[in-house]
Amino acid sequence: MAARHFLTLNDLTINELSDLLDHASFLRREWQAGKVRNSLGNRVLAMIFEKSSTRTRVSFEAGMSQLGGSALFLSPRDTQLGRGEPIEDSARVISSMVDAVMIRTFAHDKVDRFAKVSQVPVINALTDDFHPCQLLADLQTYREHRGNIAGATVTWVGDGNNMCNSYINAARLFGFHLNVACPQGYAPDSGLLDTHQDCVTVFDDPREAARGANLIVTDVWASMGQEQEADARRKIFTPYQVNPALMDLAATDALFMHCLPAHRGEEISDEMLDHPGSVVWDEAENRLHAQKALLEFLILGKLEQ
Ligand code: CP
Ligand code: NVA
Repeated sequence: MAARHFLTLNDLTINELSDLLDHASFLRREWQAGKVRNSLGNRVLAMIFEKSSTRTRVSFEAGMSQLGGSALFLSPRDTQLGRGEPIEDSARVISSMVDAVMIRTFAHDKVDRFAKVSQVPVINALTDDFHPCQLLADLQTYREHRGNIAGATVTWVGDGNNMCNSYINAARLFGFHLNVACPQGYAPDSGLLDTHQDCVTVFDDPREAARGANLIVTDVWASMGQEQEADARRKIFTPYQVNPALMDLAATDALFMHCLPAHRGEEISDEMLDHPGSVVWDEAENRLHAQKALLEFLILGKLEQ
């Protein structure tokens, strides 16, 4: 049977995603209670990182260990991937030796090409276009704090980047409405917007977009790979800072999320991570639990308590 991959949220059905998020919350409770789990005993995850990471690396590596397996950190600096070995050749070899592969890279096409050849599940751990693992953690966190997100209004403020694109996919799958507030020229992918007109509205003014929202989300103004644009973007994005005044326009019990790392004084004001609506630390921790559920689902083909 062909391996299932997780390259965007659309690779799973809404029922599978929903079960996976329930399982992630179960794993969180089980882990907090100190229960030992060996569901992935002797299984190995290869982790290919062509961009930096704290949360993604720690959560996947710790997650595999906590499930009885292990993880290999592979960087282009010390593998043949960085010396021009074709991605398909690397995929054939690596996937013949491990049980799953996680990739963080630039062009999304690279994870598609790897997955086409891979014998084992491939997980997108961030590309220039999508960050679906972060969405699993965000959606788990929303459910744990507020219940079902269907029918809610979510407001994305800032750059129409990989995180924003994944929120667009989530809006359709999970049945919420996404308001996107971004400067002109920084809107999300136009093809994605065209196919999601029923569940996404784009605004210039973050205040209009934030009105009545149940969740406000933002991210860095310059993503990895855009470092040279950081100064120019800082000027353009200044009106798009998330701060308590913006939160005041949202619903009274609105949550705030940020995938981290955050830049205080840029996309968020100094106090935002400690705002009463902020759930950023649960959101970060849930990377661990959501990905453990994902690894069990993809490697074992089922979710079992
Ligand atoms: N949110 C996130 O993916 O963080 P890292 O870049 O630290 O992995
Ligand atoms: N949009 C950011 C997310 C970092 C987790 C980036 O791609 O750098």
